[in-house]
Amino acid sequence: MLILGIETSCDDTGVAIVEADERRPKRGLTRILNIKSNVVSSQIKVHQKYGGVVPNLAAREHLKNLEPCLRQAFAEAKVTPDNIDLITATIGPGLIPCLLIGVNFAKTLAYVWEKPIIGVNHIEAHIIANYFENSEINFPAIALVVSGGHTQLVLVKKLGDYKILGETRDDAAGECFDKVAKLLGLGYPGGPAIAAEAAKYQIRATKYEIRLPRPMIKHKSYDFSFSGLKTAVLYKVKDMKKINVPEMCAEVQQAIIDVLIEKTIRAAKEYRAKTVILSGGVAANDELRKQFQEKIRDTKYQIRDTNFLVPPKILCTDNAAMISMAGYFKYLYGKPKTSWKNIKADANLRIDQKMR
Ligand code: KG4
Ligand code: ZN
Repeated sequence: MLILGIETSCDDTGVAIVEADERRPKRGLTRILNIKSNVVSSQIKVHQKYGGVVPNLAAREHLKNLEPCLRQAFAEAKVTPDNIDLITATIGPGLIPCLLIGVNFAKTLAYVWEKPIIGVNHIEAHIIANYFENSEINFPAIALVVSGGHTQLVLVKKLGDYKILGETRDDAAGECFDKVAKLLGLGYPGGPAIAAEAAKYQIRATKYEIRLPRPMIKHKSYDFSFSGLKTAVLYKVKDMKKINVPEMCAEVQQAIIDVLIEKTIRAAKEYRAKTVILSGGVAANDELRKQFQEKIRDTKYQIRDTNFLVPPKILCTDNAAMISMAGYFKYLYGKPKTSWKNIKADANLRIDQKMR
């Protein structure tokens, strides 16, 4: 079975073709998945001068990029539209002008090619990206989804059965990286820029002199708040005569990492998670990946037997292969393939909203 995926929820235009063998193995799922193409057209250059994503500009770029990306995805996969069995597209959450472009594009293909279609939740797809390297995931799992638009801690009872334990009350973790980078003049996207500066500091550093808050780290809820961290950086920049940019970046990165890990480990303990899943664009951060791995293995935290999963970096940031995979799993677990008439974009779609 061949699944076409379309992703346009934010500023990356993604088109992918994933092959799945419908013979379900007795255990596990992913040995049956093969990413035949995964085309991502980044809009970094368009949004760079604004220091963040401008929704209407992003939508215009999606409109321009989708058709060439589609052609490239078919060329790389060496298949034709006739071979496609299922179309999948992100229907939310995301920026509505962007979602509408991708959803209408996918619906048009479904109509013209007379193919079934399944709408995909972008957050669920970030979690399901972990099936690329793992044929089986043990549940219950705690999934931390950290991206430019979302920071959510999700209890995964099983595939398709989710409960949001906590989420950000203001800025997402990726948004915090992006806004701090803008403030320090490091450009967009902020995450990789801050990580690169922080790495310079860690090579030289003996001790940290800049100290930033860890917002809500001890708060009993699983909610997050990152806008105060950005404001704290702003005050430090104003107060200090000369700012050590690598040191500031290392401390911002560490503050975000400390909060994310502390809350996730607490949830993993409380819900006796068999697996901790890290995903979303911020999961591409090397320090976050490394420190998560170390802390979970640390006996002090008493979750040593919990398995830790994070997708390869290329599947952490927005891409359409994860959309194809998530759409396929929905089909596998009983969501009927549907007609183009039943698909619509929903900017505020929640992962705990029943979609099937
Ligand atoms: O998942 P994603 O590609 O798009 C959304 O769904 O939002 O995430 C993009 C976010 C941006 O805020 C970007 O700065 C952040 O992920 N990001 C990183 C890294 N790579 C991307 N943050 C920290 N470290 C990175 N290496
Ligand atoms: Zn995303």
